[in-house]
Amino acid sequence: MSLPGPIDPPARLLMGPGPISAHPRVLQAMSAQLVGQYDPFMTDAMGEVQDLYRGVFATANAHTLLIDSTARGAIEAALVSLLEPGDRVLVPVMGRFGHLLVEIAGRCGAEVHTVDAPWGEVVPLEAIAAAMERARPKVLAMVHGDTSTTMRQPFEGLRELCDRFDCLLYADVTATLGGNPFPTDAWGVDAATAGLQKCLNGPSGSAPATFSPRAVEVIESRRSIEAGIREPGDPAVAHPIRSNYFDLAMIFDYWSPRRLNHHTEATTMLYGARECARLVLEEGLDAYQVRHDLHGRAMLAGVEGLGLTVYGDRAHRMANIVAVEIPEGVDGEAVRGSLLRDFGIEIGTSFGPLAGRVWRIGTMGWNARTDAVLATLAALEAVLRRQGVALPAGGGVEAAYDVYGAAA
Ligand SMILES: Cc1ncc(COP(=O)(O)O)c(C=O)c1O
Repeated sequence: MSLPGPIDPPARLLMGPGPISAHPRVLQAMSAQLVGQYDPFMTDAMGEVQDLYRGVFATANAHTLLIDSTARGAIEAALVSLLEPGDRVLVPVMGRFGHLLVEIAGRCGAEVHTVDAPWGEVVPLEAIAAAMERARPKVLAMVHGDTSTTMRQPFEGLRELCDRFDCLLYADVTATLGGNPFPTDAWGVDAATAGLQKCLNGPSGSAPATFSPRAVEVIESRRSIEAGIREPGDPAVAHPIRSNYFDLAMIFDYWSPRRLNHHTEATTMLYGARECARLVLEEGLDAYQVRHDLHGRAMLAGVEGLGLTVYGDRAHRMANIVAVEIPEGVDGEAVRGSLLRDFGIEIGTSFGPLAGRVWRIGTMGWNARTDAVLATLAALEAVLRRQGVALPAGGGVEAAYDVYGAAA
């Protein structure tokens, strides 16, 4: 085998549903040298990260930290640590990622109940309430923004509902955190997990997460310290949390002043995650969300200006991704291929019933920018024209300009 050269990726503008192009400041932070995992510099940086993500999650939760995995791992950590085999969990499902929660909760040995909405819609509060009445779950686990359909589930009223049934509220905010309002404490969310690769400007591989005192109490009650690091007085229970790597009680110990050894912290990812949060808070959480809303609206107006149809319930769409119906007779993959090959722009398709039916175009993190939106719309128009689709000339860019003009 000949030795491959150094990694040299082509220039790409990632305008899909994530990952998006990482912010140069995040990449720069990730090129910093390693220090030992108990170096005071590192433990200070861990403390800073906790503080920074309290800001991003809008929470006072002491247990706010990073889980060293992609977002899926953090979902697994939350569910496997909260749910014991036989516990009941209710999952409202409105897309692929609701199904993922069902899958993971099932593998935790939980008794999984679901309440479904058709793809392209959200689950009404009354339907969740009725399902809670039937299922009496220990945990209500839901996706905030289901990237597969671009729908954003309202969270208002869920805390009251959970209080009525003495239930914990878990949220997967992978695709929404930062770019959409998600006031963890104000909405009474007990556990929320995210990823860096959507609105937060970073690569996947580190998952910010936060846990309320109520969730921590449940997790701590299952605490069991593994042999080899266990000290007199440390608990070792017969039925510990079923995952060692994702045992949040041990991960909490690792992030606590005791710094009880668990995994080797992914230092480079922590540097990156730290910069991601700094970028959000430097701009200001509200301003950051306003920017996502603006560029999301510009993209939406742009695709409609091209005469394309936006998929799903408009009242509940995520700020940062728009799903566009692929016009009849158009080869969606050929369009995506041409955008990538000829313009260096990536957009996404979707999954399951929406595979080949919609494109998903993201405007998030660093790519929630005027030039990125306009370039994508101009390129999409050119590629569709080559595919023989009749379009209003310049209609996409013009409509986006109008949104920017109205906001100026
Ligand atoms: C809503 C949602 N949850 C979970 C995930 C899984 O994230 P990861 O691929 O980082 O494991 C994704 C990824 O797209 C997502 O959009």
